[in-house]
Amino acid sequence: MCGIVGYIGNQSALEIILSGLQRLEYRGYDSAGVAIYEDDQIHVHRALGKLIELRKKLDGDVPGKKGSVGIGHTRWATHGKPSENNAHPHSAGRVSLIHNGIVENYIELREELKGDGCVFSSETDTEIAAHLFNRALGTGLAPFEALKDTCGRLRGSYAFLAIDSDNPDRIMVAKNATPIVIGVGEGEMFIASDIPAILGATRKVIILEDGDIAELSADGIRVENDGKEVKRPVETVTWDPVTAQKGGYKHFMLKEIHEQALVLAETFRGRLNIQDKSVFLEGMNLTDEEVSQIDRVVFVACGTSWHACLVAKFYFESLTGIPCEVDYASEFRYRTPVYSDKTLFICVSQSGETADTLAAIELVREHAKTLAICNVLGSSIARRVGDVVFTHAGPEISVASTKAFTTQIVSALVLALWIGERRDAVSAEKRGEIISQLVHLPAAIDEAVKVEEQVKEIAKKFHQASDFLYLGRGSCYPVALEGALKLKEISYIHAEGYPAGEMKHGPIALIDEHMPVVVALQNSPLLFEKTLSNLREVHARAGRIIAVTDVKGNAELAEVCEEVIEVPYLSEELSPLLLTVPMQLLAYYVAVLNGTDVDLPRNLAKSVTVE
Ligand code: F6R
Repeated sequence: MCGIVGYIGNQSALEIILSGLQRLEYRGYDSAGVAIYEDDQIHVHRALGKLIELRKKLDGDVPGKKGSVGIGHTRWATHGKPSENNAHPHSAGRVSLIHNGIVENYIELREELKGDGCVFSSETDTEIAAHLFNRALGTGLAPFEALKDTCGRLRGSYAFLAIDSDNPDRIMVAKNATPIVIGVGEGEMFIASDIPAILGATRKVIILEDGDIAELSADGIRVENDGKEVKRPVETVTWDPVTAQKGGYKHFMLKEIHEQALVLAETFRGRLNIQDKSVFLEGMNLTDEEVSQIDRVVFVACGTSWHACLVAKFYFESLTGIPCEVDYASEFRYRTPVYSDKTLFICVSQSGETADTLAAIELVREHAKTLAICNVLGSSIARRVGDVVFTHAGPEISVASTKAFTTQIVSALVLALWIGERRDAVSAEKRGEIISQLVHLPAAIDEAVKVEEQVKEIAKKFHQASDFLYLGRGSCYPVALEGALKLKEISYIHAEGYPAGEMKHGPIALIDEHMPVVVALQNSPLLFEKTLSNLREVHARAGRIIAVTDVKGNAELAEVCEEVIEVPYLSEELSPLLLTVPMQLLAYYVAVLNGTDVDLPRNLAKSVTVE
């Protein structure tokens, strides 16, 4: 989720690149850098921190200010901590290169390149591509052929921009599963990962497609896909700059809901091995022996992340056989917790900066095993735990968490498989089954988002209600809690999440013809029937039921519900993920109809760094 900008033309590339990167600042990043061709060589400048730090380095008489060909990058760390060395561009011989995405097979390629005498100066997967491209050019290949050769060696997602000091009249571009857009000017070309970066310069754009390899000069573009030359149309962007930052969506929250299929694929990319029915987690410090000794898992987190932990508990209990608890970090930190060095504490945090979660982990980290499921590399929590599983959700800008939640759940599932495999607690067959379902998850999530129009209509019917009750059982009880939290935080409507089976012990007194009851109902032979009978109790008291389910066309359900929202079914394990999507959309559309500030709801902050 890094920012990419490139320029080739007749103006100073540096200023154009820096202002393009500035326009991507809303996404957040940890370091930035540029490479500019000037006076027969490429000049690279990089800095840790905000763009202002890079600008400071470029103050005064530094080379690169006049060159009219260049590439620039803001980094959101995935492989390797945030540091100047890990900042892009990465250079090898004649080449400077920037990258957005993840190279999955970088470990084996790094070994191969080291064997070839390549010296690495960063911990990134990107540097591999710079060396590969430089090596291919060194064999006498033209840049276009050399880039094709390079991409042929890579597995994963990428958008690359590269410049070659021996061919300074062009910028080489490659795209696979990561967006890249070319801005077409008069005798100049702009390249960016996101449209906002180039909107100030041109509205004419070419959107590259997966598998495209392109060569850009100041006045032309050549594109090949699968070895054949292709023409990509020039389109005109009509978005204003603010809409453009939101990818054309009205709010970041809606953009992030829609982004979930893409980022969920990033979460498990490179981690699943279908053939071996096993999962791979990079750089884990926990040894197999330590894993076998764990006698208890304690999850600590806050808010939405705490809800993700509740789903994770189901995965851990069924796949690792280890007793598992979930605690609010804000409660845990003020108790005298009982644990041993065999306890594994797993804290889950999008930001990695939540004060309560950080304090909880500080309390135990000296004497227990600690691990974080976290979205931000280099964050305080990520730096304080023994191991980290990054969620790879990319920057989440809307205060209300959406994609962070679903990527946390998938990360927890992958982690449970990893631990379960090491403890022999889950059969290869079961692992294989879950892995193949995960592979289908992004497409199913995309399908689930298609209920949007139906949800919009439902929101119109219910947005004036003063209270909502959310119900669910099993691993869908956390989905009910999360649905209620989303509604509360962005629409300011009172909402309560409850285990469906507990309703008769109190909340049933609230049910009347004014009470919308939203239920998450998973395709489970046992839980579906049980929840359905709870819904009959609601129906008998005139409650208005909105069911979200992955069961298709159930007549009994339709009979008691005012609305039924159906999403695809993959498996019971993955139901919570798919049922969450309509919950997010419902909260979103109710809030929009009620005119609240969806992305910045009152009284809330994205990162709660105070007690
Ligand atoms: C709700 C929300 C919050 C966070 C909570 C923890 O939409 O975003 O409830 O989940 O503040 O934040 P992190 O995950 O950053 O520790």
